[in-house]
Amino acid sequence: MRTALIVGNWKMNKTASEAAAFARELSQRLPGTSTGVEFVIAPPFTALESVHRVLSPGSPIQLGAQDMFWEDHGAYTGEVSAPMLKDLGCRYVILGHSERRTLFGEQSDSIQKKIRAALKHGLRPILCIGESLAQRDNGSTDDVLTQQLRESLSGFTGDAIAGVTVAYEPIWAIGTGKSATTEQAVAAHRTIRRALAATASAAIASGTRILYGGSVTPQNIESLLSSDQIDGALIGGACLHVESFVTIAAVVSAARSIGV
Ligand code: PGA
Repeated sequence: MRTALIVGNWKMNKTASEAAAFARELSQRLPGTSTGVEFVIAPPFTALESVHRVLSPGSPIQLGAQDMFWEDHGAYTGEVSAPMLKDLGCRYVILGHSERRTLFGEQSDSIQKKIRAALKHGLRPILCIGESLAQRDNGSTDDVLTQQLRESLSGFTGDAIAGVTVAYEPIWAIGTGKSATTEQAVAAHRTIRRALAATASAAIASGTRILYGGSVTPQNIESLLSSDQIDGALIGGACLHVESFVTIAAVVSAARSIGV
């Protein structure tokens, strides 16, 4: 079974000191290390260093970033590169989040360059894809997911694709309190796995982790993870509070240790 992955995407929330205090408390309260689950928090860039200092080398919590630029350095005002993130202890980077696509005009060609740069520097990209409500309503969800995946990963070797985690995040479910049902998420994950098999190979598709994101809560996480198609979650709002993060972690650890 693929190792489950729970990623807390804090978006533009928490100062460096608030983030450090959160990470300290979370480290104390997370359930004991479980081999079947990985935990990642992705604070804003400004809090990466303070959180990194709080997390001990053996911490069950790993550090992730919410975005990055594809060049290593240079005249790119306001941007942050993969070597900078690595130097602060990041292991993961979220790329192509729908907020980046819709609010900042990010498109597949730049997402593809970012994935390439992340892999080159040993960061693990979490590629976000997902359909809008209009696309779901007009029946094009499968086409949208397949196209976003193909465009973001075109020209990659199978080895490179094997280093990518995919997050299925229906736009209509993000921050709305209206999560996809487990059935809807499972259907989308199957579509994504088929597209991965076509782009890379069946073996790579079955080894790739696909996370669900969009209004995940302590209440719905168990149902979502009851399917072996769903390898974890990318969580916004519910990961901003230690209490709900710890509850979600406990549910996931229990689910994976009994092999659900
Ligand atoms: P949400 O956000 O859990 O607050 O819906 C998820 C995300 O945007 O990754």
